[in-house]
Amino acid sequence: MKILGIESSCDETAAAVVEDGTKVICSVVATSKDFHEKTGGIVPEIAARKQVEFTVPVINECVKQFAEKGGNINDIDAIAVTVGPGLIGSLVVGVEAAKALALAWNKPLIPVNHLVGHIYANFIDRPNEIVFPAVALLVSGGHTDLVLLRGHGDFEYIGGTLDDAAGESFDKTARLLGLSKYLGGVLLSQKSAACTKNELAGRLPRPMIDDGTFDFSFSGLKTAVKNLIEREHPPVEQVACEFETSVVDVLVAKTIRAVKKFGVKTLLMGGGVAANTHLRARLGNDAKELGVSFFVPPISLCTDNAIYIAAAANFINKTKAFDEIVADPSLGIMDLA
Ligand code: KG4
Ligand code: ZN
Repeated sequence: MKILGIESSCDETAAAVVEDGTKVICSVVATSKDFHEKTGGIVPEIAARKQVEFTVPVINECVKQFAEKGGNINDIDAIAVTVGPGLIGSLVVGVEAAKALALAWNKPLIPVNHLVGHIYANFIDRPNEIVFPAVALLVSGGHTDLVLLRGHGDFEYIGGTLDDAAGESFDKTARLLGLSKYLGGVLLSQKSAACTKNELAGRLPRPMIDDGTFDFSFSGLKTAVKNLIEREHPPVEQVACEFETSVVDVLVAKTIRAVKKFGVKTLLMGGGVAANTHLRARLGNDAKELGVSFFVPPISLCTDNAIYIAAAANFINKTKAFDEIVADPSLGIMDLA
């Protein structure tokens, strides 16, 4: 089955054709990130306007690349679109474009939850490798969730952040450190990697690490970083290293505890923060020690794209009537859309 996926939840506009949820035929991504860097944070109105500007060219380019690979519109079995969570102004552009195409081409339309999509990025190029039950750690700019997957679309929420998401805390701390005004996670991680000796080791809290729950809280960590900087003016590399280690310590401890508690043999990670090399390495090592198969998408598939939207639609094929398909900015991970 070949699915055309469309993603427009935030500042990326993306389209991709994926076969059987695992094989990428073509993929196109445009971003309005540069505009939000200038304003020091995302301006939803600008993001929405850029979606309007980019959507048709991105879909056109995707269809063109599909044709170059020998495909045509008749070969597309369904259209999948992100319906939430995200910015409402951005979401509606992709949803309405997908509806128009589905009507014009007479194709079924499959609504996809963006967060569920991030998890399904793991299935690309790995047919039959991923065995259920599995635990998934979803770490993005807006969400941090631990989920038990019993099968495709059969999920149980185990825990999640009570305040800031992991990515949000990276971004806010990067801003405090003067590294970037917008999406500073990668830059913070690079600074951390440049730290040769962390004299601040253990100075930041590891929030809720031993509380026995699968919930997280990262907002206090950012405040602790602020206090540390104001009082001691430590080297940026060391603060970055100590901050990153603290977040990774908590994410790894809770995820591994979930793996043990539910006795699963498969661990998946997804979302923008899954691109973090420190987190990938630590979770991978701990999973290996437990004899658990660990899957994380390649870095290019961790950040937003339409490949995983088409992949998720293949496995959770919940075709709905057109009038039931609406953009919903506040979907949670348990809302299958
Ligand atoms: O999943 P995503 O692309 O967008 C959302 O759906 O939210 O995630 C973006 C988040 C941002 O907070 C960004 O700073 C963070 O992922 N991020 C990273 C890294 N790469 C992206 N955080 C830490 N280390 C990274 N290497
Ligand atoms: Zn995302």
